[in-house]
Amino acid sequence: TDNKDIRALIEKAEATHILSKDEIVTLLADTQYQDEFFAAADRVRQKYVGDEVHLRGLIEFSNICKQNCLYCGLRRDNKKVNRYRLEPDTVLDFAVKAKSYGYRTVVLQSGEDEWFSVDTMVDIIKKIKELGLAITLSVGEKTREVYQAYRDAGADRYLLRIETTDKALYEQLDPGMSWDNRVRCLKDLKELGFELGTGCLVEIPGQSLESLADDILFFKSIDADMIGVGPFIPNPDTPLAEEAGGTFDLSTKVMAMTRLLLPDINIPATTAMETLNPQGRILALQRGANVVMPNVTEGDYRQMYLIYPGKICINDTPAHCRSCITGKIRGIGRKVAETHGFRIKRA
Ligand code: SAM
Ligand code: SF4
Ligand code: FES
Repeated sequence: TDNKDIRALIEKAEATHILSKDEIVTLLADTQYQDEFFAAADRVRQKYVGDEVHLRGLIEFSNICKQNCLYCGLRRDNKKVNRYRLEPDTVLDFAVKAKSYGYRTVVLQSGEDEWFSVDTMVDIIKKIKELGLAITLSVGEKTREVYQAYRDAGADRYLLRIETTDKALYEQLDPGMSWDNRVRCLKDLKELGFELGTGCLVEIPGQSLESLADDILFFKSIDADMIGVGPFIPNPDTPLAEEAGGTFDLSTKVMAMTRLLLPDINIPATTAMETLNPQGRILALQRGANVVMPNVTEGDYRQMYLIYPGKICINDTPAHCRSCITGKIRGIGRKVAETHGFRIKRA
């Protein structure tokens, strides 16, 4: 591919939002026209979702997990984590505070912790809905019936990353889990009327650019409403401790490509990106992202929810993070949204 072709591909992505797998790979591999590529993603973001940035308050309510994903610090075989689960009343208290910071959505995230029964979750969801907040859940794989109960209780969105669309690689990285079941979960969630969030890890061992291109095409085929992409960051207390981690540039390229091909969806500037680059979230907002998920978990729990090392904000308060992130957003001429920030289909 010569230079003229790279530029033509960027123009095609910006104008049509359609590229073949080979074309995606070509652009992900290019480093020479990277800045033009990011600028195109930023224009598409501006055109389809505007300058508003949606803030979603993240509550990490349990770091207990029955699964054993090789990359994750919360995996059940990691004995070095201090485990915790918040009382439902504490979750509610954090949600009330999230509302007081002006957030319109709370994201409830945890390991796959069986202590939180359907009834307990339904109760938490109903009480948070009474506050007028939108709710995103990120609590892993469940049956369709359980998802239905969450939805009936009022949950609006669900985040469940496919992690990788390479089935063999997925099943190697997430021992005991089934890739087909994960896809079943995503399809059930979509059918039940959740806004569907998925996404992938970038540069996990065994992944290729071709595989990342498949991930992006998968996001499109499943009609995802939100996509979270982040670099793999090796955790010293996991079997992948010695592996190389992902890079900031390729992670944001996968994210920018997602914006170009799914122009009207919500895309967070992920915490993992800022772990690799002190300006990571702001740069991500200028490469296609339109959402940030500031942490509203209080106290020592932040340090215990250690998925990977170097996680940002672990010693900061929710109030500090709020003023920090709003200041940064305004600093690049963007505004903090005051709506719930549901996807508005335009494509
Ligand atoms: N247990 C739920 C699940 O797996 O969907 C939600 C919590 S899990 C900690 C959230 C996300 O963390 C995963 O989807 C995964 O992509 C990400 N993650 C786990 N380990 C990571 C690592 N070492 N580097 C970067 N991201 C990681
Ligand atoms: Fe558990 Fe999620 Fe971590 Fe896997 S990624 S070990 S399911 S918390
Ligand atoms: Fe937490 Fe900046 S957002 S310190």
